[in-house]
Amino acid sequence: MPAINKREKWASKIGLILALAGNAIGLGNFLRFPVQAAENGGGAFMIPYFVALIIMGIPLMWAECAIGRMGGRYGQGHTAGMFELMWRHPCSKYLGMLGIFIPFTIALYYIYITSWTLAYGYFSLTGDYFGVATRETMGAYLRGFQGVESNQYFSSISPSYLAYLTTLGMSLYIVYHGISGGIERLGKIAMPLLFLIGVALAVRVLTFGTPDPNYPENNVLNGLGFVWNPQPERLTNPTIWLAAAGQIFFTLSVATGAIPTYTSYMREEDDVALTGLSTAGLNELAEVVLGGTIAITAAVAFFGLAETEEIARRGAFDLGFQALPMIFQKIPLGHLFGALWFLLLFFAGVTSVVALTQPVMALFQDGFGWSRGKTTCVVLAALFLLTQPVIFFLKHGFLDELDFWVGSFALVFFALIETIQFAWVFGMERGWNEITRGAAISVPRPFYYVIKYVTPLFLLFILAAWAVQDVPNKIFMVGVKPEDAPYVWGARGMMIALLLVFGFLVKIASGKKGERS
Ligand code: PHE
Repeated sequence: MPAINKREKWASKIGLILALAGNAIGLGNFLRFPVQAAENGGGAFMIPYFVALIIMGIPLMWAECAIGRMGGRYGQGHTAGMFELMWRHPCSKYLGMLGIFIPFTIALYYIYITSWTLAYGYFSLTGDYFGVATRETMGAYLRGFQGVESNQYFSSISPSYLAYLTTLGMSLYIVYHGISGGIERLGKIAMPLLFLIGVALAVRVLTFGTPDPNYPENNVLNGLGFVWNPQPERLTNPTIWLAAAGQIFFTLSVATGAIPTYTSYMREEDDVALTGLSTAGLNELAEVVLGGTIAITAAVAFFGLAETEEIARRGAFDLGFQALPMIFQKIPLGHLFGALWFLLLFFAGVTSVVALTQPVMALFQDGFGWSRGKTTCVVLAALFLLTQPVIFFLKHGFLDELDFWVGSFALVFFALIETIQFAWVFGMERGWNEITRGAAISVPRPFYYVIKYVTPLFLLFILAAWAVQDVPNKIFMVGVKPEDAPYVWGARGMMIALLLVFGFLVKIASGKKGERS
Protein backbone atom coordinates (compact mmCIF):
# COMPACT_ATOMS: atom_id res chain seq x y z
CA MET A 1 0.00 0.00 0.00
CA PRO A 2 1.45 3.30 -1.05
CA ALA A 3 0.47 5.08 2.18
CA ILE A 4 2.52 2.69 4.26
CA ASN A 5 5.41 2.95 1.88
CA LYS A 6 5.37 6.66 2.24
CA ARG A 7 5.25 6.43 6.00
CA GLU A 8 8.06 3.90 6.04
CA LYS A 9 10.13 6.14 3.86
CA TRP A 10 9.61 9.04 6.24
CA ALA A 11 10.41 6.89 9.22
CA SER A 12 13.67 5.81 7.68
CA LYS A 13 14.54 9.38 6.73
CA ILE A 14 13.92 10.56 10.26
CA GLY A 15 15.89 7.60 11.56
CA LEU A 16 18.85 8.65 9.43
CA ILE A 17 18.63 12.30 10.44
CA LEU A 18 18.41 11.40 14.13
CA ALA A 19 21.35 9.04 13.78
CA LEU A 20 23.34 11.80 12.10
CA ALA A 21 22.24 14.26 14.78
CA GLY A 22 23.44 11.78 17.39
CA ASN A 23 26.73 11.59 15.54
CA ALA A 24 27.19 15.36 15.50
CA ILE A 25 25.68 16.31 18.85
CA GLY A 26 28.18 15.30 21.48
CA LEU A 27 30.27 16.43 24.39
CA GLY A 28 31.57 19.08 22.02
CA ASN A 29 28.21 20.84 22.12
CA PHE A 30 27.80 20.97 25.87
CA LEU A 31 31.36 21.06 27.21
CA ARG A 32 33.73 22.16 24.46
CA PHE A 33 31.54 24.89 22.97
CA PRO A 34 30.83 26.84 26.18
CA VAL A 35 34.48 26.71 27.09
CA GLN A 36 35.64 27.87 23.66
CA ALA A 37 33.08 30.67 23.72
CA ALA A 38 33.97 31.81 27.22
CA GLU A 39 37.70 31.54 26.67
CA ASN A 40 37.52 33.57 23.50
CA GLY A 41 35.56 36.40 25.00
CA GLY A 42 31.96 35.23 24.56
CA GLY A 43 30.42 37.61 22.05
CA ALA A 44 33.74 37.99 20.25
CA PHE A 45 33.62 34.33 19.40
CA MET A 46 30.17 34.11 17.89
CA ILE A 47 30.86 36.09 14.71
CA PRO A 48 33.78 33.94 13.49
CA TYR A 49 31.81 30.94 14.69
CA PHE A 50 28.87 31.66 12.41
CA VAL A 51 31.13 32.69 9.55
CA ALA A 52 32.97 29.37 9.84
CA LEU A 53 29.64 27.54 9.99
CA ILE A 54 28.43 29.07 6.74
CA ILE A 55 31.56 29.00 4.64
CA MET A 56 33.07 25.80 5.96
CA GLY A 57 30.81 23.74 8.20
CA ILE A 58 27.68 23.50 6.08
CA PRO A 59 29.55 23.15 2.75
CA LEU A 60 31.63 20.33 4.21
CA MET A 61 28.55 18.69 5.64
CA TRP A 62 26.93 18.70 2.19
CA ALA A 63 30.07 17.47 0.50
CA GLU A 64 30.46 14.66 3.02
CA CYS A 65 26.83 13.57 2.76
CA ALA A 66 27.27 13.46 -1.02
CA ILE A 67 30.57 11.58 -0.81
CA GLY A 68 29.00 9.07 1.57
CA ARG A 69 25.91 8.41 -0.53
CA MET A 70 28.10 7.97 -3.57
CA GLY A 71 30.39 5.59 -1.67
CA GLY A 72 27.42 3.53 -0.54
CA ARG A 73 26.32 3.19 -4.16
CA TYR A 74 29.56 1.31 -4.85
CA GLY A 75 29.70 -0.61 -1.56
CA GLN A 76 32.27 1.66 0.07
CA GLY A 77 31.50 2.64 3.66
CA HIS A 78 34.81 4.26 4.58
CA THR A 79 36.58 7.29 3.18
CA ALA A 80 39.60 5.31 1.95
CA GLY A 81 37.33 3.49 -0.51
CA MET A 82 35.34 6.64 -1.27
CA PHE A 83 38.46 8.63 -2.09
CA GLU A 84 39.51 5.91 -4.50
CA LEU A 85 36.21 6.31 -6.28
CA MET A 86 36.78 10.03 -6.66
CA TRP A 87 40.43 9.87 -7.66
CA ARG A 88 41.88 6.73 -9.19
CA HIS A 89 45.40 7.19 -7.96
CA PRO A 90 47.41 4.88 -5.66
CA CYS A 91 47.81 7.71 -3.11
CA SER A 92 44.12 8.38 -2.90
CA LYS A 93 43.29 5.62 -0.44
CA TYR A 94 46.05 6.73 1.94
CA LEU A 95 44.62 10.23 2.05
CA GLY A 96 41.17 8.78 2.63
CA MET A 97 42.58 6.56 5.34
CA LEU A 98 42.74 9.64 7.57
CA GLY A 99 38.97 9.38 7.77
CA ILE A 100 39.39 6.04 9.54
CA PHE A 101 42.41 6.92 11.64
CA ILE A 102 40.96 10.18 12.99
CA PRO A 103 37.67 8.87 14.40
CA PHE A 104 39.28 5.71 15.78
CA THR A 105 41.91 7.72 17.64
CA ILE A 106 39.40 10.27 18.93
CA ALA A 107 37.31 7.33 20.18
CA LEU A 108 40.21 6.27 22.40
CA TYR A 109 39.72 9.24 24.68
CA TYR A 110 36.15 10.19 23.86
CA ILE A 111 34.84 6.94 25.35
CA TYR A 112 36.74 7.55 28.54
CA ILE A 113 35.39 11.08 28.99
CA THR A 114 31.87 9.91 28.18
CA SER A 115 32.18 7.33 30.92
CA TRP A 116 32.84 10.07 33.49
CA THR A 117 29.42 11.50 32.76
CA LEU A 118 27.85 8.17 33.58
CA ALA A 119 29.67 8.03 36.90
CA TYR A 120 28.90 11.66 37.76
CA GLY A 121 25.23 11.09 36.95
CA TYR A 122 25.25 8.34 39.50
CA PHE A 123 27.17 10.49 42.01
CA SER A 124 24.59 13.24 41.56
CA LEU A 125 21.71 10.90 42.30
CA THR A 126 23.38 9.41 45.34
CA GLY A 127 24.68 12.79 46.49
CA ASP A 128 28.23 11.49 46.60
CA TYR A 129 29.85 14.88 45.96
CA PHE A 130 27.31 16.87 47.94
CA GLY A 131 29.26 18.58 50.69
CA VAL A 132 32.40 18.94 48.57
CA ALA A 133 31.83 22.64 48.69
CA THR A 134 34.59 24.61 46.96
CA ARG A 135 36.04 24.62 43.47
CA GLU A 136 39.35 23.44 44.88
CA THR A 137 37.83 20.48 46.66
CA MET A 138 35.59 19.63 43.70
CA GLY A 139 38.80 19.70 41.65
CA ALA A 140 40.43 17.27 44.05
CA TYR A 141 37.31 15.10 43.83
CA LEU A 142 37.63 15.02 40.02
CA ARG A 143 41.35 14.27 40.12
CA GLY A 144 40.76 11.52 42.64
CA PHE A 145 38.07 10.06 40.42
CA GLN A 146 40.32 10.21 37.37
CA GLY A 147 43.08 8.49 39.29
CA VAL A 148 45.37 11.46 38.78
CA GLU A 149 45.88 11.60 42.54
CA SER A 150 44.81 9.46 45.45
CA ASN A 151 42.92 11.49 48.07
CA GLN A 152 40.18 11.33 50.68
CA TYR A 153 37.48 11.17 48.00
CA PHE A 154 38.86 8.34 45.91
CA SER A 155 41.69 6.07 46.87
CA SER A 156 41.76 4.19 43.56
CA ILE A 157 40.75 4.45 39.95
CA SER A 158 38.27 1.56 40.27
CA PRO A 159 35.02 3.60 40.09
CA SER A 160 36.12 5.39 36.96
CA TYR A 161 37.43 2.18 35.45
CA LEU A 162 34.11 0.50 36.12
CA ALA A 163 32.28 3.38 34.45
CA TYR A 164 34.64 3.09 31.50
CA LEU A 165 34.03 -0.65 31.09
CA THR A 166 30.28 -0.11 31.31
CA THR A 167 30.34 2.63 28.68
CA LEU A 168 32.54 0.60 26.36
CA GLY A 169 30.26 -2.41 26.76
CA MET A 170 27.10 -0.39 26.11
CA SER A 171 28.55 1.30 23.04
CA LEU A 172 29.72 -1.92 21.51
CA TYR A 173 26.39 -3.55 22.26
CA ILE A 174 24.71 -0.86 20.16
CA VAL A 175 27.33 -1.13 17.42
CA TYR A 176 26.86 -4.88 17.33
CA HIS A 177 23.20 -4.36 16.43
CA GLY A 178 24.13 -2.43 13.33
CA ILE A 179 23.08 0.85 11.82
CA SER A 180 19.33 0.37 11.64
CA GLY A 181 18.87 -2.04 14.54
CA GLY A 182 21.28 -0.31 16.91
CA ILE A 183 22.35 3.18 15.94
CA GLU A 184 19.13 4.45 14.40
CA ARG A 185 17.12 3.02 17.23
CA LEU A 186 19.42 4.66 19.75
CA GLY A 187 19.09 7.98 17.94
CA LYS A 188 15.30 7.76 17.98
CA ILE A 189 15.32 7.38 21.75
CA ALA A 190 18.36 9.38 22.83
CA MET A 191 17.93 12.46 20.66
CA PRO A 192 14.38 13.43 21.66
CA LEU A 193 15.26 12.76 25.30
CA LEU A 194 18.39 14.84 24.98
CA PHE A 195 16.43 17.81 23.65
CA LEU A 196 13.81 17.39 26.34
CA ILE A 197 16.37 17.34 29.12
CA GLY A 198 18.30 20.18 27.49
CA VAL A 199 15.21 22.39 27.40
CA ALA A 200 14.38 21.54 31.02
CA LEU A 201 17.88 22.46 32.13
CA ALA A 202 17.94 25.63 30.06
CA VAL A 203 14.62 26.75 31.57
CA ARG A 204 15.97 26.00 35.04
CA VAL A 205 19.07 28.08 34.35
CA LEU A 206 17.11 30.96 32.86
CA THR A 207 15.02 31.16 36.02
CA PHE A 208 18.06 31.46 38.29
CA GLY A 209 17.71 35.25 38.24
CA THR A 210 20.24 36.71 40.64
CA PRO A 211 21.16 33.81 42.92
CA ASP A 212 23.09 35.90 45.46
CA PRO A 213 21.65 39.37 46.14
CA ASN A 214 25.05 40.42 47.58
CA TYR A 215 26.45 40.14 44.06
CA PRO A 216 23.78 41.69 41.88
CA GLU A 217 25.95 41.65 38.75
CA ASN A 218 26.15 37.86 38.89
CA ASN A 219 22.90 37.14 37.13
CA VAL A 220 21.34 35.33 34.21
CA LEU A 221 21.09 38.38 31.97
CA ASN A 222 24.79 39.09 32.28
CA GLY A 223 25.44 35.45 31.49
CA LEU A 224 23.43 35.66 28.30
CA GLY A 225 24.97 39.01 27.45
CA PHE A 226 28.41 37.54 27.79
CA VAL A 227 27.74 35.09 24.96
CA TRP A 228 25.52 37.25 22.80
CA ASN A 229 26.90 40.79 22.92
CA PRO A 230 29.04 40.92 19.79
CA GLN A 231 32.48 42.45 20.05
CA PRO A 232 33.45 43.23 16.46
CA GLU A 233 36.62 45.00 17.57
CA ARG A 234 38.16 41.69 18.52
CA LEU A 235 37.73 40.14 15.08
CA THR A 236 41.29 40.95 14.10
CA ASN A 237 42.60 38.41 16.56
CA PRO A 238 43.48 35.26 14.56
CA THR A 239 43.29 33.00 17.61
CA ILE A 240 39.55 33.51 17.79
CA TRP A 241 39.17 32.49 14.16
CA LEU A 242 41.20 29.34 14.67
CA ALA A 243 39.23 28.41 17.75
CA ALA A 244 35.94 29.02 15.96
CA ALA A 245 36.93 26.94 12.93
CA GLY A 246 38.20 24.12 15.14
CA GLN A 247 34.95 24.09 17.08
CA ILE A 248 32.87 23.95 13.91
CA PHE A 249 34.71 20.86 12.67
CA PHE A 250 34.58 19.07 15.94
CA THR A 251 30.97 19.79 16.72
CA LEU A 252 29.61 18.91 13.28
CA SER A 253 31.78 15.75 13.15
CA VAL A 254 32.90 16.87 9.69
CA ALA A 255 36.44 16.28 8.47
CA THR A 256 36.65 13.17 10.61
CA GLY A 257 35.24 10.51 8.28
CA ALA A 258 32.30 9.83 10.58
CA ILE A 259 29.63 11.55 8.47
CA PRO A 260 30.34 9.81 5.13
CA THR A 261 30.21 6.41 6.81
CA TYR A 262 26.71 7.14 8.10
CA THR A 263 25.50 8.59 4.82
CA SER A 264 26.86 5.62 2.89
CA TYR A 265 23.67 3.99 4.13
CA MET A 266 21.55 6.55 2.29
CA ARG A 267 19.57 5.32 -0.64
CA GLU A 268 19.85 6.91 -4.03
CA GLU A 269 16.57 8.76 -3.61
CA ASP A 270 17.51 10.13 -0.18
CA ASP A 271 18.12 13.82 -0.04
CA VAL A 272 21.69 15.00 0.54
CA ALA A 273 20.97 18.72 0.75
CA LEU A 274 18.11 18.45 3.22
CA THR A 275 19.73 15.74 5.33
CA GLY A 276 22.96 17.71 5.64
CA LEU A 277 21.18 20.91 6.51
CA SER A 278 18.88 19.26 9.06
CA THR A 279 21.83 17.61 10.75
CA ALA A 280 23.76 20.86 10.96
CA GLY A 281 20.61 22.68 12.11
CA LEU A 282 19.86 20.24 14.92
CA ASN A 283 23.48 20.32 15.99
CA GLU A 284 23.52 24.12 16.12
CA LEU A 285 20.25 24.18 18.04
CA ALA A 286 21.76 21.87 20.63
CA GLU A 287 25.05 23.71 20.69
CA VAL A 288 24.20 27.37 20.56
CA VAL A 289 20.79 27.44 22.19
CA LEU A 290 21.16 24.68 24.77
CA GLY A 291 24.94 24.33 25.13
CA GLY A 292 25.37 28.11 25.15
CA THR A 293 22.63 28.70 27.68
CA ILE A 294 23.11 25.99 30.24
CA ALA A 295 26.72 25.93 31.31
CA ILE A 296 27.94 29.48 30.75
CA THR A 297 24.85 31.27 31.94
CA ALA A 298 24.72 29.16 35.08
CA ALA A 299 28.41 29.76 35.73
CA VAL A 300 28.09 33.53 35.30
CA ALA A 301 25.01 33.66 37.53
CA PHE A 302 26.77 31.82 40.33
CA PHE A 303 30.43 32.74 39.93
CA GLY A 304 30.45 36.01 37.98
CA LEU A 305 32.08 36.92 34.69
CA ALA A 306 35.71 37.00 35.75
CA GLU A 307 35.60 33.66 37.48
CA THR A 308 33.69 32.07 34.59
CA GLU A 309 36.46 33.12 32.23
CA GLU A 310 38.98 31.70 34.66
CA ILE A 311 37.08 28.40 34.87
CA ALA A 312 36.92 28.26 31.07
CA ARG A 313 40.66 28.83 30.80
CA ARG A 314 41.19 25.71 32.84
CA GLY A 315 39.22 23.72 30.32
CA ALA A 316 36.04 21.82 29.68
CA PHE A 317 36.34 19.48 32.61
CA ASP A 318 36.49 22.31 35.13
CA LEU A 319 33.25 23.70 33.83
CA GLY A 320 31.30 20.47 33.50
CA PHE A 321 32.69 18.43 36.36
CA GLN A 322 33.59 21.08 38.95
CA ALA A 323 31.69 24.32 38.51
CA LEU A 324 28.30 22.83 37.67
CA PRO A 325 28.35 20.20 40.44
CA MET A 326 28.92 23.06 42.88
CA ILE A 327 25.83 24.78 41.56
CA PHE A 328 23.77 21.59 41.87
CA GLN A 329 24.66 21.53 45.55
CA LYS A 330 23.19 25.00 46.01
CA ILE A 331 19.84 24.68 44.24
CA PRO A 332 16.65 22.87 45.26
CA LEU A 333 16.35 19.41 43.68
CA GLY A 334 20.05 19.63 42.89
CA HIS A 335 20.38 15.84 42.88
CA LEU A 336 17.85 15.61 40.12
CA PHE A 337 19.25 18.48 38.03
CA GLY A 338 22.75 17.11 38.44
CA ALA A 339 21.64 13.69 37.27
CA LEU A 340 19.84 15.25 34.32
CA TRP A 341 22.90 17.28 33.30
CA PHE A 342 25.12 14.23 33.29
CA LEU A 343 22.48 12.09 31.62
CA LEU A 344 22.30 14.70 28.87
CA LEU A 345 26.07 14.52 28.49
CA PHE A 346 25.95 10.74 28.49
CA PHE A 347 23.36 10.57 25.70
CA ALA A 348 25.35 13.12 23.73
CA GLY A 349 28.56 11.17 24.32
CA VAL A 350 27.37 7.64 23.59
CA THR A 351 25.70 8.53 20.29
CA SER A 352 29.01 10.08 19.21
CA VAL A 353 31.10 7.16 20.47
CA VAL A 354 29.20 4.75 18.25
CA ALA A 355 29.72 7.13 15.32
CA LEU A 356 33.45 7.25 15.96
CA THR A 357 33.70 3.47 15.71
CA GLN A 358 31.82 3.16 12.41
CA PRO A 359 34.54 4.04 9.88
CA VAL A 360 36.88 1.35 11.18
CA MET A 361 33.97 -1.10 11.34
CA ALA A 362 33.25 -0.30 7.69
CA LEU A 363 36.87 -0.91 6.77
CA PHE A 364 36.76 -4.44 8.15
CA GLN A 365 33.26 -5.24 6.97
CA ASP A 366 33.54 -3.82 3.45
CA GLY A 367 37.25 -4.25 2.83
CA PHE A 368 37.81 -7.61 4.48
CA GLY A 369 34.34 -9.10 4.23
CA TRP A 370 34.18 -9.71 7.97
CA SER A 371 30.87 -10.20 9.73
CA ARG A 372 29.58 -7.51 12.05
CA GLY A 373 30.06 -9.79 15.05
CA LYS A 374 33.67 -10.52 14.30
CA THR A 375 34.40 -6.87 13.51
CA THR A 376 32.75 -5.72 16.73
CA CYS A 377 34.93 -8.10 18.75
CA VAL A 378 38.14 -6.97 17.07
CA VAL A 379 37.28 -3.28 17.40
CA LEU A 380 36.33 -3.81 21.04
CA ALA A 381 39.65 -5.47 21.75
CA ALA A 382 41.62 -2.76 19.95
CA LEU A 383 39.73 0.05 21.69
CA PHE A 384 40.14 -1.60 25.04
CA LEU A 385 43.88 -2.10 24.69
CA LEU A 386 44.68 1.30 23.25
CA THR A 387 42.57 3.21 25.76
CA GLN A 388 44.69 1.92 28.65
CA PRO A 389 47.51 4.47 28.21
CA VAL A 390 44.89 7.23 27.89
CA ILE A 391 43.43 6.20 31.24
CA PHE A 392 46.61 5.51 33.14
CA PHE A 393 48.77 8.30 31.71
CA LEU A 394 46.07 10.96 31.93
CA LYS A 395 48.07 13.14 34.28
CA HIS A 396 51.07 13.03 31.96
CA GLY A 397 49.23 14.68 29.10
CA PHE A 398 48.71 11.58 26.94
CA LEU A 399 45.10 12.49 26.19
CA ASP A 400 45.93 16.14 25.47
CA GLU A 401 48.58 15.16 22.96
CA LEU A 402 46.15 12.91 21.07
CA ASP A 403 43.49 15.60 21.21
CA PHE A 404 45.73 18.30 19.76
CA TRP A 405 46.98 16.31 16.78
CA VAL A 406 43.95 14.20 16.02
CA GLY A 407 41.05 16.18 17.51
CA SER A 408 42.22 19.56 16.21
CA PHE A 409 45.10 19.66 13.73
CA ALA A 410 44.26 16.61 11.64
CA LEU A 411 40.71 17.82 11.10
CA VAL A 412 41.83 20.99 9.34
CA PHE A 413 44.26 18.99 7.25
CA PHE A 414 41.73 16.34 6.30
CA ALA A 415 39.08 18.97 5.56
CA LEU A 416 41.43 20.64 3.11
CA ILE A 417 42.28 17.39 1.33
CA GLU A 418 38.65 16.41 1.21
CA THR A 419 37.43 19.70 -0.28
CA ILE A 420 40.15 19.69 -2.92
CA GLN A 421 39.37 16.07 -3.71
CA PHE A 422 35.66 16.82 -3.98
CA ALA A 423 35.60 20.20 -5.69
CA TRP A 424 38.69 19.98 -7.88
CA VAL A 425 39.65 16.36 -8.50
CA PHE A 426 36.18 14.84 -8.63
CA GLY A 427 35.00 18.14 -10.04
CA MET A 428 32.57 20.73 -8.75
CA GLU A 429 30.11 20.14 -11.58
CA ARG A 430 29.68 16.49 -10.61
CA GLY A 431 29.92 17.35 -6.93
CA TRP A 432 27.16 19.93 -7.20
CA ASN A 433 25.04 17.43 -9.05
CA GLU A 434 25.51 14.90 -6.24
CA ILE A 435 24.50 17.46 -3.62
CA THR A 436 21.44 18.80 -5.39
CA ARG A 437 20.06 15.77 -7.24
CA GLY A 438 16.60 14.90 -5.92
CA ALA A 439 16.86 17.52 -3.18
CA ALA A 440 13.67 18.88 -1.67
CA ILE A 441 15.35 22.19 -0.91
CA SER A 442 17.15 24.25 -3.49
CA VAL A 443 20.70 24.90 -2.46
CA PRO A 444 21.56 28.53 -3.20
CA ARG A 445 23.87 28.71 -6.21
CA PRO A 446 26.51 30.84 -4.41
CA PHE A 447 27.40 27.72 -2.43
CA TYR A 448 28.75 26.24 -5.65
CA TYR A 449 31.44 28.91 -5.59
CA VAL A 450 31.82 28.79 -1.83
CA ILE A 451 32.64 25.08 -1.93
CA LYS A 452 34.90 25.48 -4.93
CA TYR A 453 36.88 28.55 -3.88
CA VAL A 454 36.04 29.97 -0.48
CA THR A 455 36.10 26.80 1.62
CA PRO A 456 39.51 25.57 0.38
CA LEU A 457 41.05 29.02 0.62
CA PHE A 458 39.74 29.55 4.10
CA LEU A 459 41.03 26.12 5.11
CA LEU A 460 44.42 26.88 3.63
CA PHE A 461 44.55 30.07 5.63
CA ILE A 462 43.55 28.29 8.83
CA LEU A 463 46.11 25.56 8.26
CA ALA A 464 48.86 28.10 7.63
CA ALA A 465 47.92 30.08 10.72
CA TRP A 466 47.97 26.92 12.81
CA ALA A 467 51.28 25.87 11.39
CA VAL A 468 52.77 29.17 12.46
CA GLN A 469 50.97 29.76 15.75
CA ASP A 470 50.46 26.47 17.50
CA VAL A 471 52.27 23.66 15.76
CA PRO A 472 55.90 24.65 16.52
CA ASN A 473 55.15 25.05 20.23
CA LYS A 474 53.44 21.68 20.23
CA ILE A 475 56.20 19.94 18.32
CA PHE A 476 58.87 21.29 20.62
CA MET A 477 56.71 20.58 23.66
CA VAL A 478 56.71 24.10 24.99
CA GLY A 479 55.17 24.04 28.47
CA VAL A 480 55.45 20.25 28.83
CA LYS A 481 57.00 19.16 32.12
CA PRO A 482 60.26 17.25 31.51
CA GLU A 483 58.95 14.21 33.37
CA ASP A 484 55.93 14.09 31.04
CA ALA A 485 57.98 14.16 27.84
CA PRO A 486 58.31 10.35 27.52
CA TYR A 487 54.53 10.02 27.71
CA VAL A 488 54.02 12.68 25.08
CA TRP A 489 56.46 10.77 22.89
CA GLY A 490 54.52 7.64 23.68
CA ALA A 491 51.32 9.25 22.42
CA ARG A 492 53.10 10.33 19.24
CA GLY A 493 54.52 6.85 18.75
CA MET A 494 51.06 5.40 19.11
CA MET A 495 49.60 7.75 16.52
CA ILE A 496 52.38 6.95 14.05
CA ALA A 497 51.95 3.23 14.63
CA LEU A 498 48.21 3.55 14.07
CA LEU A 499 48.80 5.46 10.84
CA LEU A 500 51.07 2.68 9.61
CA VAL A 501 48.67 -0.07 10.61
CA PHE A 502 45.73 1.65 8.95
CA GLY A 503 47.86 2.30 5.87
CA PHE A 504 48.61 -1.38 5.64
CA LEU A 505 44.96 -2.39 6.17
CA VAL A 506 43.75 0.08 3.58
CA LYS A 507 46.24 -1.27 1.08
CA ILE A 508 44.85 -4.78 1.52
CA ALA A 509 41.26 -3.56 1.43
CA SER A 510 41.80 -1.50 -1.70
CA GLY A 511 39.32 -2.29 -4.46
CA LYS A 512 37.16 -4.58 -2.32
CA LYS A 513 33.62 -3.60 -1.61
CA GLY A 514 30.88 -4.37 0.84
CA GLU A 515 27.66 -6.24 0.36
CA ARG A 516 25.12 -3.48 0.62
CA SER A 517 23.83 -1.75 -2.42
N1 PHE B 1 30.72 15.96 17.05
C1 PHE B 1 31.00 15.29 18.26
C2 PHE B 1 30.88 16.30 19.40
O1 PHE B 1 30.45 17.40 19.23
C3 PHE B 1 32.36 14.66 18.28
C4 PHE B 1 32.60 13.75 17.14
C5 PHE B 1 33.60 14.03 16.26
C6 PHE B 1 31.80 12.65 16.92
C7 PHE B 1 33.82 13.23 15.17
C8 PHE B 1 32.00 11.83 15.82
C9 PHE B 1 33.00 12.12 14.95
O2 PHE B 1 31.20 16.01 20.51
